[in-house]
Amino acid sequence: MWALCMAALAIISITHWVYRWRNPKCHGKLPPGSMGLPLLGETLQFFTANTSFDIPPFIKKRMEKYGPIFRTNLVGRPIIISTDPDLNYFVFQQEGNLFQSWYPDTFIEIFGKQNVSNLHGVMYKYLKNMVLHLVGPESLKNMIPEVEQAALSKLQQWSCQDTTELKDATASMIFDLTAKKLISYDSSKSSENLRDNFVAFIQGLISFPLDIPGTAYHKCLQGRKRAIGMLKDMLRERRGKSRDQPNDFFDYVIEELKKEGTILTEEISLDLMFALLFASFETTSIAMTLAIKFLSDHPLALKQLTEEHEMILKQRKNADSGLTWKEYKSMTFTFQFINETVRLANIAPTIFRRALKEINFKGYTIPEGWGVMVSTTTVHLNPEKYDDPVAFNPWRWEGTETNSASKDFMAFGGGQRLCVGADFAKVEMAVFLHCLVTKYRWEAIRGGNIVRSPGLQFPEGFHIRILEKDTSNRKQPITPDTSTRNV
Ligand code: HEM
Repeated sequence: MWALCMAALAIISITHWVYRWRNPKCHGKLPPGSMGLPLLGETLQFFTANTSFDIPPFIKKRMEKYGPIFRTNLVGRPIIISTDPDLNYFVFQQEGNLFQSWYPDTFIEIFGKQNVSNLHGVMYKYLKNMVLHLVGPESLKNMIPEVEQAALSKLQQWSCQDTTELKDATASMIFDLTAKKLISYDSSKSSENLRDNFVAFIQGLISFPLDIPGTAYHKCLQGRKRAIGMLKDMLRERRGKSRDQPNDFFDYVIEELKKEGTILTEEISLDLMFALLFASFETTSIAMTLAIKFLSDHPLALKQLTEEHEMILKQRKNADSGLTWKEYKSMTFTFQFINETVRLANIAPTIFRRALKEINFKGYTIPEGWGVMVSTTTVHLNPEKYDDPVAFNPWRWEGTETNSASKDFMAFGGGQRLCVGADFAKVEMAVFLHCLVTKYRWEAIRGGNIVRSPGLQFPEGFHIRILEKDTSNRKQPITPDTSTRNV
């Protein structure tokens, strides 16, 4: 009898729990949608990879069925997915007030509890200022020669190879550049390769979050552990040495850590270094690879871009001088081209937030504590804003402001949390393109197709052969003469 009662109670509890899972409590009207299977939600469907520039099928199907705002459950969390431009914009504008930066627990495990996206208020502002010290406008002006030097030396190296896999090659170039600025890291002088740990890390970042040996997610966490371990050793070694002149970001962090009453901790600094290394090289290398792919497929765009950069060289007083900030700022078509590349690339196709209060929007209620996933892909592929949205057309940006985020352009996010590295990424891309089209030409060999997963997307192994252009009539040296540079 008791056993029967217990079984009945268990069945009632489970049925109630399943009912609640499917019909979460809400004071108003929840957006339509499905919470998927108990525990799993719709995580598996969400993680399915796809191979086009178009809106991911997971989102597209649900937009057709439920409209622009719908609910789901991903990795155990109830989430509202917004493809509605007004709600997306509202979410960014209300950062810290109605919404707060939030990423699923699995992301926090990977990026660290003290990572910049998980910090708010005073601490967040403090970190943002630190990063701006590194990649703000003043630093960027001085960085142009370094970026140009790095691009030229890599291009020369690649031109000696039969083929170059562009994603990996550009990632390595940007990693070296960022790691040098951050921690004076030189891969050729280190016994352990820091980037290798990030490679393992990236492979798991887009996988299902199952932390058992053998899974990609497990390898990813191991990669993080090793990378953080290396950064920690470097920081401790550096803290023990005195340096006369602050030279890199590590020195700056160490100075901050020394200050009495500082809010910075070693853990926060390490998570910041880790996030900056990842955020800078993984995103920008995807954008650069896609940029070259687009130029390979669109000869008119290549022609106009090349003309813009040849013109910069022609207008110089001293043909041997390197690129200046003024020249960089004059690259009108290049900025149109970069905007179009990142619009279609949708490198951050989803941005997460959490509702701090119950919110009513367009007749729906978003319960307090729920996650909100802003779908930037749908903003960038909105046919009402972009004619033939999946077509590559850099000319669509003609006469528009190419340097700001808006309701219709969120490639670098929006509101207070707008990407702090956006200008750095643009400098790296523009300078690299300048070096490439003025001194080299290339042949696409194979690959370059798009492979998208919800978190990140990769142009699949894009192999090219880089060849030097005949620039003898221009008498431009491969290494710019930085002494004659006029920033
Ligand atoms: C094409 C290149 C890049 C793209 C598409 C990109 C995209 C984004 C987006 C969409 C966000 C907003 C995330 C959110 O609101 O939750 C973001 C944040 C961030 N990005 Fe970038 N990013 C790029 C390059 C960089 C670079 C080069 C750096 C390195 C300095 C960087 C550092 C950061 C950091 C630290 C944040 C976190 C800011 C915060 O939480 O407020 N990014 N990025």
